[in-house]
Amino acid sequence: MQQPRATTPSLKISHLFKDFGAVEVLRNVSFSLTGGTSVVITGPSGSGKSTLLHIIGTLEEPSNGIVEINNTNPFTLSEPELAAYRNSVIGFVFQEHHLLPQYSVLENVLIPTLAFKQDANATQRAHQLIRRVGLADRMSHRPGQLSGGERQRVAIARALINQPNILLCDEPTGNLDTATTETIANLLFELHNAEKNMLIVVTHNLALASRFDRHLQLTDGACMES
Ligand SMILES: Nc1ncnc2c1ncn2[C@@H]1O[C@H](COP(=O)(O)OP(=O)(O)OP(=O)(O)O)[C@@H](O)[C@H]1O
Ligand SMILES: [Mg+2]
Repeated sequence: MQQPRATTPSLKISHLFKDFGAVEVLRNVSFSLTGGTSVVITGPSGSGKSTLLHIIGTLEEPSNGIVEINNTNPFTLSEPELAAYRNSVIGFVFQEHHLLPQYSVLENVLIPTLAFKQDANATQRAHQLIRRVGLADRMSHRPGQLSGGERQRVAIARALINQPNILLCDEPTGNLDTATTETIANLLFELHNAEKNMLIVVTHNLALASRFDRHLQLTDGACMES
């Protein structure tokens, strides 16, 4: 398995605001996280959970406030620097797997490594991760030939291929049945413990929420720790 990264992950959100025109989504959100901690974010539909996750994942810029990831404000970087930063520091798992249908499981997992030209160990790491998520015998299957839970396992392997400090998951089990949800949750925690990354998961599933070190609740764009 991969060696844990030398850098201890850290995330500091200070007085974060986000609006989309007249819609104020996040209002003065502040919190700090350090180390290989696990965090769940819950809140009603429309409360800004995905927006917050997209900002942490540097996919969306805040309207105001400061985000520091590993003591760097990613939004001060140029666009190419930011893309490289995102690709190496952040892993993202969405509710929809977003796998490329024309590529195999192995190829999908390798896609985030293509930006790094001299990554000789990538294929070996991809094989290890695919084995780790229990899909060793599905290496050359296409996403269309997999079950929903299997596709999500591929998405998790893809998110971890560059050994990100921070793994962000937006309702990763939202489309799955109870038994598959349990399997995927167990897998996320197993890999989180092995990789020592920071795990941040948005979920509506309260049974899942109780398994995390910390619990942030969003209500009307305000964030409280419970
Ligand atoms: N790109 C956008 N442009 C305009 N409004 C947006 C945009 N993205 C999100 N919003 C609005 O921001 C609010 C929060 O959306 P967000 O997707 O963060 O909610 P959520 O908590 O993830 O909800 P859900 O549980 O349904 O996924 C919503 O009212 C939404 O309509
Ligand atoms: Mg959402």
